[in-house]
Amino acid sequence: MVVNAAALRIVVLASGEGSNLQAIIDRLHGGGAVEIVGVGSDKPGCRALGRAADAGIATRVFERERFGGDREARDEAMADWIETTGADLVVLAGYMQLLSPGFVQRFARRVINVHPSLLPAFPGLQAIEQAVAAGADTTGVTIHFVDEQVDHGPVIQQREVPIERDADGNADLDALEQRIHAVEHDLLPQTIAQIAAGRLGVG
Ligand code: GRF
Repeated sequence: MVVNAAALRIVVLASGEGSNLQAIIDRLHGGGAVEIVGVGSDKPGCRALGRAADAGIATRVFERERFGGDREARDEAMADWIETTGADLVVLAGYMQLLSPGFVQRFARRVINVHPSLLPAFPGLQAIEQAVAAGADTTGVTIHFVDEQVDHGPVIQQREVPIERDADGNADLDALEQRIHAVEHDLLPQTIAQIAAGRLGVG
């Protein structure tokens, strides 16, 4: 029998609500295969930090202003902290800052992101609205490795979500957002669990 000797150690970076972080906490954290060893944010007081604290997970805030607006310096400090946690994987879960090339190179193929579209379609902000406005029939969720570009890098997993429209072609945006977030909350923990199990060749 193959025993997973050590848990996959992950750091989660988040800027806002933290519902994806919560899904990882609920589905994986403390279950033996995956341990969240830290949650980092650029936004002091964001809900994600509160969720981490409630789960007893160490948090750190890296505000760009504290580094004189120097993104490279901020990301270097954040990378130094991540290394002290012994993290195997960095998970961007609603982290709204572009990572500097130095950070991405330091953690090459060890940073993943969740995005609410079928990349390469609709990168960037308001991806769900973009898909609806473009008249798409289908959108979805992508989990991908992070490179130096926004919402870009090798795709790990994708799941489709149909866009339902009425006779006039209008879509219920709130309902669509809820369905997409539900898929995120399933696909992101599932992907991390697969990485922990060595089934995706990373980790
Ligand atoms: C999610 O839709 C994620 O795909 C995108 O940002 C949103 C974060 O939501 N990158 P939450 O903070 O996890 O609730």
